[in-house]
Amino acid sequence: MSIISNNTASAIKDAATSLLKGNLVAFPTETVYGLGADAQNKNAVARIYQVKGRPVFHPLIVHISSIQHLDKLAKDIPDYAIALARAFWPGPMTLILPRTLIVKDFITGSQNNVGIRVPSNTFAIALLKEFELQGGLGVAAPSANRFGKVSPTTANDVKIELSEYLGEEDLVLDGGPSIVGVESTIVNCTLSVPTILRPGAITASMINKLLDSSIEVNSQNVKNSIKVSGLLESHYAPSAKVYLFGTPKPGDGFIALDTITTPMGAIRLANPASNEEYARVLYQALRLADAKNLDRVFVVPPTGDNIEVAIRDRLEKCATKS
Ligand code: TXA
Ligand code: MG
Repeated sequence: MSIISNNTASAIKDAATSLLKGNLVAFPTETVYGLGADAQNKNAVARIYQVKGRPVFHPLIVHISSIQHLDKLAKDIPDYAIALARAFWPGPMTLILPRTLIVKDFITGSQNNVGIRVPSNTFAIALLKEFELQGGLGVAAPSANRFGKVSPTTANDVKIELSEYLGEEDLVLDGGPSIVGVESTIVNCTLSVPTILRPGAITASMINKLLDSSIEVNSQNVKNSIKVSGLLESHYAPSAKVYLFGTPKPGDGFIALDTITTPMGAIRLANPASNEEYARVLYQALRLADAKNLDRVFVVPPTGDNIEVAIRDRLEKCATKS
């Protein structure tokens, strides 16, 4: 595995060629780093599952450079989904849509729906454009972490997570830290009205404002009918135990907004000044807890109805259930 830090046009071109040859390329996105493979190549996609240690029935998000390619991969696209794509792509939103025959069972876990996203990170877009120019269509990419673990927000995180599982020919593109810091909002667009399956930086209120609707996040029946690995009980978890209530003892980790003072003897892992910054630094802070070999981390979740919903969602999934 090599890390490519010099993202020149020729480096991006080589990375796209490498994807088409069947290698894996981890790349930056505005949300978190993805572990990419050619979505048409069964063997390459199988390696994603191996490297992540992910159960094979979990579907993958397919990344494209622009809405122009959407109808090659998805059909029966409702008007509201087009409106969402036009408003929020490129950006931190994934649409679940009925698939065309181009999208194979090995991408969707044999479901008839596919998740599609146009990311906004400039290196991601450049890679996807170059990949399409060379004849590819769709880069399948889950977050570039081992299954159930914290998503990576830097190239170095990807290296720490995956270097022992990646092959010699695989690449990691270094595009600096991810600016959003939590995974994309997933919107189910297979029904007459949209539902949010995973909250993210594109919030329910942004969607409701655009569509003049009143959707909420994660309805229970959706949880049961659609496979979203982020809906499993434990996810996004560091090795340290995470607590969302209670008081840390000296030597425990502590994460909270900067307006909240550190309890005596606790080790401050992050002190974000805003909730956007909270999202951006959360996964780094959880990784820092492991780097410092802490047993326990106490987190004060932010309140609010916007990006805070996504932060609380991830925290609840990684929190220790007692
Ligand atoms: O921000 C993101 O979405 C990042 C970056 C790399 O794009 N990707 C990401 O992928 O978070 P992943 O695989 O770690 O999480 C995607 C979630 C999984 O829980 C998966 O089950 C769900 O999306 N998903 C993918 N395709 C789906 C489908 N067809 N139907 C329902 N859920 C789907
Ligand atoms: Mg993931």
